[in-house]
Order: sequence, then structure tokens, then C-alpha cells
Amino acid sequence: MRLRRPRGLSCYWHEGQFVVHPYPRGTPVALHPAAAEILSAFEEWTDPAEAARTLGHLAPETLGEAIPALHEAGLLMSEGNPQAQRDELIARHWGTWAPEAPFFHYATQDVPYPDHEAVSERAPGAADMPPLFTTHPGADRLPLPRLPADLRVPYDEVLYRRRTHRDFTREPVPLRTLATLLAVVFGPVDFIDSGRGALFRRTSPAGGARQELDAYVGVLNVSEVTPGMYHYNALEHSLELIGEGFTPDEAAHLCADQAWAGGAAFLVVLSAALERMRAKYPTPRCYRVCLLNAGHLGQTFALTATALGLGPAQTGAFHDSAVAERCALDNIARTPLYVLAAGHPHPAPEDAPPPAMLRTFRDTALHR
Ligand SMILES: Cc1cc2nc3c(=O)[nH]c(=O)nc-3n(C[C@H](O)[C@H](O)[C@H](O)COP(=O)(O)O)c2cc1C
Repeated sequence: MRLRRPRGLSCYWHEGQFVVHPYPRGTPVALHPAAAEILSAFEEWTDPAEAARTLGHLAPETLGEAIPALHEAGLLMSEGNPQAQRDELIARHWGTWAPEAPFFHYATQDVPYPDHEAVSERAPGAADMPPLFTTHPGADRLPLPRLPADLRVPYDEVLYRRRTHRDFTREPVPLRTLATLLAVVFGPVDFIDSGRGALFRRTSPAGGARQELDAYVGVLNVSEVTPGMYHYNALEHSLELIGEGFTPDEAAHLCADQAWAGGAAFLVVLSAALERMRAKYPTPRCYRVCLLNAGHLGQTFALTATALGLGPAQTGAFHDSAVAERCALDNIARTPLYVLAAGHPHPAPEDAPPPAMLRTFRDTALHR
């Protein structure tokens, strides 16, 4: 019977042990690192006797024990086995995203969920929880106006008018508009007693109300605000100066050299303070929740910006390390996840896509 190593297999060192982790459903196994060499002989369907010839420098008894053990652990699959067919399909479908994306996806799938009480019992007490808010006490700060800009636009109008804008006018965004947007999207709405200290809630849902996402604002063209990188202090409703000076070229470069970002009036970097989430939810799956939370904040940002008469944009493409450095994030405990932007939308945007016509639909598969 010929055997093959799954395509879905990641190896790493964890807590001093060499671990081989098959996915989608496999269990991570700690092995002697020599297992990697044996597994490498099974790149394609291979007869164990043939593999033994390739691995001639290893004792036959070692291979005689190791190969069945690897097979038993699901680290070698038999030809024709349904597991092998599924492995092949996953490799084909995830294509160039492998191994990073499918490994994270499947390794954090179907995890056991401890009951709610067990999570609460294990969670540190209020005194050991990380602070709710990120603040930069030593920074120069600009307290923001609290008089909100008008947000009373019919809900349907906001929903259907929201579009991603990449062409902006040079008209500065009034400080009051920016202040309203930051307060509505990132400010606390209320405070709740979690049983282990206070938590706050925002206008967007957030997994466990951990509020691990902070907003850093790159100001380019906002009235009464010097261009620069600021942190939005949500507790105080102020902008804390991280670094003076911010140019359209720099903004475009940070956003993976997308020129449109330089035309925005400001960027907002969503950065995760990971310990705020991890302190209560130690399972790696909860990193997904941080990403989902960023999406929720992004949508609320886009709708609120639209209601305020701004054109919102967002980008998943950005130079992570450069963005982190510009926001003075260590990219370890605090790391950027998403970049949002807004400005006054150009009335006749140059990049507006043309509507799809009959000809377009002729070239489009609408269903199988
Ligand atoms: C998570 C996410 C990442 C995006 N990344 C980019 C990007 O890197 N560059 C860009 O020009 N647009 C980006 N967009 C905007 C999309 O291209 C846009 O939402 C899409 O074309 C649909 O248009 P609409 O937003 O007007 O409905 C992104 C949108 C989302 C939600």
C-alpha cells in the first residue's frame, strides 16, 4: 500500500517540542524531529520499501516502527483513502493561500468550547485584567469638541449611499465632523459590570466586549488639526499626538502604495491590544474574533462617515511594519489589523466603476 504525507501539514516547535500538525481535522503530535525526514520521503504516493531505500541511513527497525506510527497518527495517508481525497481537494481549493491561511483556518476550527462558567472562573480577577483603554498620558493632546455634528439622515439613505470612495476633494474635514465620527464609532456608549470589573460597549458589537481595538488617526486635511499621527483617546475624547507631520505620499505608501489614500482627509488605523482579548479568551480561535471585530468597526465607520457627508474607504492592503512604526506600535502586543480612510467625496469620482450592461452580463457566469 502506497502512502503519502498530507499536503495539509504544518510543523513547528512548541514548548520545546517538535510538533507535526495535520489539518483540517488532525491532532497535533509531538515527535522526534527525525520524523520530518521520514515524512519528507513521502512527498508523492510512495511504497514504504521504496522510502526505506531513500532513507537508507536510518535503521530498518526505526523505519519499521516509525512508518506505521506516522500512518496511525494520520501523518501518512493510504492511497485511495477518503482523507487523501479531501486533502487533495483542500490543497487545490486553497491554492496559493496555503499553507498559512488554511492552517490558521482549520487549526482553529471545531475547537472544544468550555462552558461559560468555566471561562469566567479561569479569567483573571479585575485587578489582573489589562486596562480597558489605551492612553498616552505623556503625549501632547487636543481635546475634541463634544458638540456632535448632525447625524440625522434616514437610515435607508445612509445604507444605500455608502460606497467606497477613492477620489476626494481638497476641502478640509471640519474638526467637529472628525470628532463626531471618532466618538460614534470608537467612543464608549455605556459601561457594564462584567462580574470581574467594568467593560464598555460601543455602537458596534465586539466579541466578549473586550474592546481590544484602538484607533490611530493619521491627519492629513482636517481643519484646526496639524497633520500628524494621533491616537484617539476614547476615555477622554481627545487626540494624543504620536508624531507630527503626515503627507499624502506617506499615507499612500503606508496603504501599500495606493495613490488614492493620499487624497483622503485622514486615515484610521485599527490596532489590536491583543492581551485585552487573550486575558479572557486564551484559545487561538479568538484571534478570529479580533479580525471580525475590526470588520464590524469598519462597517460602522463607513456608515457613520456617510451619514456625516464624508466618503469612506478601507484597505486590507497596507505595509504592516511601516504602519505599526508610524503609530508607535510595537507590532507585538499591539498590532495593526485594518486601515480606514475618509474625506469629502469628489462629486464626479474618476475611478467610479461603470455600471454593468447587457454585454457585461454576457461575459459573466451568474450561476453554475
Ligand atoms: C476588508 C476590505 C478590504 C478592502 N481592501 C481594499 C484595498 O486594499 N484597496 C481598495 O482600493 N479597496 C479595498 N476595499 C474596498 C472594496 O474594493 C470595495 O468595498 C468593493 O469594491 C465594493 O464597493 P463598495 O464598498 O462601494 O460597495 C476593501 C474593502 C474591504 C471590506
